[in-house]
Amino acid sequence: MMTLKVNGQDHQIDAKGDTPLLYVLRDDLKLNAAKYGCGLGQCGSCTVMVDGKAVLSCVTPILLLEGRQVTTLEGLGTIERPAPIQRAFMEEQAAQCGYCIAGMMMRAQALLQRNAKPTDEEIRAELALHLCRCGTHMRILRAVHRASQLMDTAELSDKRSAQ
Ligand code: FES
Ligand code: FES
Repeated sequence: MMTLKVNGQDHQIDAKGDTPLLYVLRDDLKLNAAKYGCGLGQCGSCTVMVDGKAVLSCVTPILLLEGRQVTTLEGLGTIERPAPIQRAFMEEQAAQCGYCIAGMMMRAQALLQRNAKPTDEEIRAELALHLCRCGTHMRILRAVHRASQLMDTAELSDKRSAQ
């Protein structure tokens, strides 16, 4: 039994330490945004954040996660109140089948948290591992730029309302 912190909540998990995080998220916690693509760390569809960094949950055993904060797409925002990254992907219609999109958004979110204004090249390099079989790469690129603008605007309005 171990405690796993996911999206700000503690969960008691009864699974072997070498169980991949992805299985626990989907099977035990019913958080289905992260997807099983290859199971080998080669496609990016299972990406979540651990302590703010993008991590491939299919190859991350839960024994490494005691005391660390896991964030999934469900933890960023809701349908009623989407986070900037989610709004941007919707506004740019970045998803076609959508299978790759949660992973793309989580890695893009981690990028934007450490680099608020990434260049095209930086976004491309960051998302290079992520496969999109539908080929919506240009829309995804635009969505990440749009998320950066939305985050900027949100930060400005937070600062104004705090004054
Ligand atoms: S399912 Fe994890 S990288 Fe493909
Ligand atoms: S939108 Fe279908 S795999 Fe990317």
